[in-house]
Amino acid sequence: MELVGKRILVIGGAGLIGSHILDELIKTDVKEIIIYDNFFRGTMDNIDEALKDPRVKIYPHGGDILHEDILDKAMEGVDGVFHLAAMWLLQCHEYPRSAFDVNIRGTFNVIMAAIKHKVKRVVYSSSASVYGNALEIPMTEEHPYNNFTFYGATKIAGEHIFKSLSSRYGLSWAGLRYMNVYGPRQDYKGAYIAVMMKILDNIDKGIQPVVFGDGSQQYDFIYVGDIAKANICAMQAEKTGECYNVGRGIGTSIKELSELLLRLTGSSLKIKYEPAGQTFVTNRIGSIDKAEHDIKFKWSIDLEEGMQKLIEWRKSHKDAVDKKRTAAGL
Ligand SMILES: NC(=O)c1ccc[n+]([C@@H]2O[C@H](COP(=O)([O-])OP(=O)(O)OC[C@H]3O[C@@H](n4cnc5c(N)ncnc54)[C@H](O)[C@@H]3O)[C@@H](O)[C@H]2O)c1
Repeated sequence: MELVGKRILVIGGAGLIGSHILDELIKTDVKEIIIYDNFFRGTMDNIDEALKDPRVKIYPHGGDILHEDILDKAMEGVDGVFHLAAMWLLQCHEYPRSAFDVNIRGTFNVIMAAIKHKVKRVVYSSSASVYGNALEIPMTEEHPYNNFTFYGATKIAGEHIFKSLSSRYGLSWAGLRYMNVYGPRQDYKGAYIAVMMKILDNIDKGIQPVVFGDGSQQYDFIYVGDIAKANICAMQAEKTGECYNVGRGIGTSIKELSELLLRLTGSSLKIKYEPAGQTFVTNRIGSIDKAEHDIKFKWSIDLEEGMQKLIEWRKSHKDAVDKKRTAAGL
């Protein structure tokens, strides 16, 4: 879908990825950008810059995808929808019933409202969690659903609800399976990503950064600004009904990541290894060919540049970082 002159609804727009999508949308000629968020995890700090653009507004009558009539109203006259609202991995683990409501019933509500209001295209935030532990690397989109988490189950369900209802009612959509997203505005609640924030906290305090296990677990880290660009590419693309990995296709171990953070901060501290706690997934690197081919997306920020941006953001947004630390009970 061409973006010029369009009204765009960003559901979950006050969160990490949603707020970066706002920043990307502002650079285009869209007519209006409406944030629909219940601020369960999203924050005003995340969106205060975007809100300076007069085209960006928070939907004034509510922002919960479980409030069907309000969601329905918010969808009136909308051309494109980014659907990012969800409960996260650890929360789905703790509260599967609530996660069922938000991630599955909420997604169903979004789809039905989009169909009713003849929305031209929806981009759905799925997750590489649908794959679980890798059976082969790199993981293509054909990789089996080797998932054992409830979070992954909700994302698999979401994809299939999109698939079935859109083929019945003709809704154009794309699903994005993000690898491990990091960058400015990230908080301390993620299962894998919080480790970066905790390592940087330790370095700031002059305490040895702690790595659990031997640090050999590899992840496919991708900068949040690139994730936002992938969303824009997916919205602009025409192909419907497909899901795409969004990553760099490069594995980085937690040990390598920790060493990079020590180097970038100029720290001479040494990593302290402690026994591994609960890990959900230990190895996940995605193939990026399908996204490159179909939606013309390729990452542009490498790990060193991205980590530098994260470190700079932490320095220039100390209050926001403190609030995120407090919100995570740290
Ligand atoms: N960050 C990652 O590494 C990652 C990886 C894979 C997939 N994802 C998926 O991408 C999407 C965005 O992730 P994020 O990291 O920006 O998460 P986030 O939690 O920062 O953003 C989600 C937003 O949705 C809002 N929200 C939650 N429940 C809602 C509800 N019932 N109604 C309306 N809004 C609600 C939250 O307040 C938050 O602002 C999510 O669907 C997530 O599952 C993220």
